Amino acid sequence: MKDIVKVLIRTFEDTFAETPLVVQSPGRINLLGEHTDYNNGYVMPAAIDLCNYVALQKRNDTELHFISIDYNDTYSCSIDNLEKSGKLWPDYMLGVIEELLKQGHQLGGLNVAVTGDIPTGAGLSSSAALECAFAFGLDQIFNLGLERLSIVKTAQSAENNYVGVKCGIMDQFASVFGHEDQVMRLDCRDLSFEYIPFTSSGISILLFNTGVKHSLASSAYNQRREECQAGVDLIRAHHPKVTSLREVNEQMLTDYVLPVDKTVYQRCLYVVSENTRLIEAGKDLQEHNMKAFGQKMFATHDGLQHLYEVSCAELDYLVDFVKEDSRVLGARMMGGGFGGCTINLIATDAVADITAKITELYKDKTGLDLEVYQIKIGEGTSLVDVKNENINQHATY
Ligand code: GLA
Repeated sequence: MKDIVKVLIRTFEDTFAETPLVVQSPGRINLLGEHTDYNNGYVMPAAIDLCNYVALQKRNDTELHFISIDYNDTYSCSIDNLEKSGKLWPDYMLGVIEELLKQGHQLGGLNVAVTGDIPTGAGLSSSAALECAFAFGLDQIFNLGLERLSIVKTAQSAENNYVGVKCGIMDQFASVFGHEDQVMRLDCRDLSFEYIPFTSSGISILLFNTGVKHSLASSAYNQRREECQAGVDLIRAHHPKVTSLREVNEQMLTDYVLPVDKTVYQRCLYVVSENTRLIEAGKDLQEHNMKAFGQKMFATHDGLQHLYEVSCAELDYLVDFVKEDSRVLGARMMGGGFGGCTINLIATDAVADITAKITELYKDKTGLDLEVYQIKIGEGTSLVDVKNENINQHATY
């Protein structure tokens, strides 16, 4: 058990004088399939070995008491009168409660403490991990009988409706359904998915965090959604059965979108080619052809940079630098864009050398410290075995 979880349990016990149920839910990476989830396309995410942890128990009244260890903060309110907290971190959980109440579930008061080791603002879906851990925990303590997929959808709705971010389903899906050493190929149209082993020995997954989050991020995200919809509308005028970019091919884009709006055309072209690329990349993985797989990551970055236009100078710099190095199989920006991390597949014996070089160059170029995370593919949402740990003896402060 990680030390942060021991601290979480101890804090919960000291504050609320009872032993909590503890749930862990991971952040995610995404190997390919960016900005495709809300277009009914394919994505290829995986859970990582960094998690958010929620400790919780029922109360006998209707009060909600939250503690965030990482923000050194508390928040209390009543379940009868849910309002935005004004400080965001409780809203991810309040949003989950509101969604479950809307679905007709009976809930009551709660004591809750949270912590985690997913870097925030890095595009690793720390908020989705918190929502999923909390929804899973509520299901357990109130016996709601939720399927894993309901937990995913509830968490996504909390983000869409309460927090107000119109994200797709990928982040919550990856957090709940992740499996060690496996990536998922998820079809966001019907939510069918399969696991593909990702155990390539000698290759490490490195994330380089630009340390920037440009203010464009959320408005541009919503704008891209609208541009994709505009493309679908133009095509639907000629092909009434088309409801999303998933049913669209390049010829339709050339015929019906390009003559009307070049920007919309470019957005749609990226999405359509990314779906094709992902299917091909699945075959590369199954054939252990990591070189071909990595080339597709570079191609995705190119599309995100020039067609979808959600990259930024810092991300481009990091990708351009590693592209020159044959020990890097593939790299691209990851997540919504305009900051956050690049994901890199690097020959394990070159990791130290490349990391040292890029850290120094990035500092020279931007004045920023590059944070580097070497991650492993981890398990999805699960209970932490609290009883088998002697917390008091091992806790470190
Ligand atoms: C964010 C969203 C996801 C997905 C990605 C882009 O992470 O939360 O739903 O749209 O951006 O692929």
